[in-house]
Amino acid sequence: MAEHPAYPVGLRLTGRRVVVVGGGQVAQRRLPALLAAGADVVLVSPEATPSVEAMADAGEITWQRRPYAEGDLAGAWYALVASDDAEANARASAEAERERVWCVRSDDADRATAWTPATGQSEGVTVAVLTTDARGRDPRHTAAVRDAVVEGLRDGTLVAPHHRTRTPGVALVGGGPGDPDLITVRGRRLLAEADVVIADRLGPRDLLAELPPHVEVIDAAKIPYGRYMAQEAINNALIEHARKGRSVVRLKGGDPYVFGRGMEEVQALAEAGIPCTVVPGISSSISVPGAAGIPVTHRGVAHEFTVVSGHVAPDDERSLVDWPSLARLTGTLVILMGVDKMGRIAETLIAHGRSPDTPVALVQEGTTAAQRRVDATLATVAETVRAEDVRPPAVIVVGEVVAVGTPTDR
Ligand SMILES: C[S@@+](CC[C@H](N)C(=O)[O-])C[C@H]1O[C@@H](n2cnc3c(N)ncnc32)[C@H](O)[C@@H]1O
Repeated sequence: MAEHPAYPVGLRLTGRRVVVVGGGQVAQRRLPALLAAGADVVLVSPEATPSVEAMADAGEITWQRRPYAEGDLAGAWYALVASDDAEANARASAEAERERVWCVRSDDADRATAWTPATGQSEGVTVAVLTTDARGRDPRHTAAVRDAVVEGLRDGTLVAPHHRTRTPGVALVGGGPGDPDLITVRGRRLLAEADVVIADRLGPRDLLAELPPHVEVIDAAKIPYGRYMAQEAINNALIEHARKGRSVVRLKGGDPYVFGRGMEEVQALAEAGIPCTVVPGISSSISVPGAAGIPVTHRGVAHEFTVVSGHVAPDDERSLVDWPSLARLTGTLVILMGVDKMGRIAETLIAHGRSPDTPVALVQEGTTAAQRRVDATLATVAETVRAEDVRPPAVIVVGEVVAVGTPTDR
């Protein structure tokens, strides 16, 4: 049967009966894809793994809790035979052959009438990789080929241009805290497709070096503007480039909506009638402490964490932060943009009840090669910032969680 290569085909299984014999690991791995394809799955098996059982409990599959019996494949369009009973497998496969039901066998690929390819999805296509010869089967190789193709499409290292007209517009992409590996798959793909990238100072700057030469990279900090005009100038640049029919990526540090002024850009683009998509990013508020070995919550230690901007001092009339209330909380405080004002923030927290001994960690340039962590307490943090010359960008963590982890400063 394996003298010829398999003929690849996509089965459209919506509402069609698929019989699965055996409820073990193989079924557990294959069922999600069958369900995603809309198949009407009947499982025949005396036992099932807890995950398969949960699918039956949820009504996603029909489970006949018994061994395979002749006639079980009646009405089936497709069968997966994967029980640990060799004799039942052989009988079910024989019925499939007789009834002309395409049948995958987990125990004997050579005798099976169908093979399951290694599959993955990206950019609206399914990548399916099949071996050409059952005898030379190397499932790890097919999986590796699938991974290489899917990963390449996702991260833009394998470029397959779309021939449909691309919708010009702007993608606001959260780039994560700085490590280029910490951008989302979608963000990286959009970056690979961009004609113009307007980037912030923070975020995965290393990714910009990988862009092809035709991509125009604009440093948002260098867009000419008058005093207080920075955001307006950036909005105008986004609109201008998008109106020229270009695909524009606005690459921001962390998440666009965490102190990132993302919504201001979304609103400006909406007013200009420019289509815009927002891609979330990994915010430094959680990932930077994590990179330095600090969990923002920990069982029995902190049941909440509050992310707050420290860019204006607590006694500044522009401050929207209720520092006295924050001082009364027992959980974790994560302060962004707070290096300059940390002395006054610490004084305020102590004045309103937080212990001067509360541990504090300052994590500078987290997730980058220059990451460093400096530890202090609320009582000592002002002096520590000076003595250790801590500089922005830094995430400051206040609370007992600082003391629970193992520092993984790198
Ligand atoms: C304007 S806010 C933007 C926050 C961003 N949108 C986010 O979700 O992470 C900039 C502040 O984020 C923090 N920050 C961002 N990236 C950082 C990094 N890699 N290491 C330390 N702090 C960082 C610093 O407190 C910095 O001053």
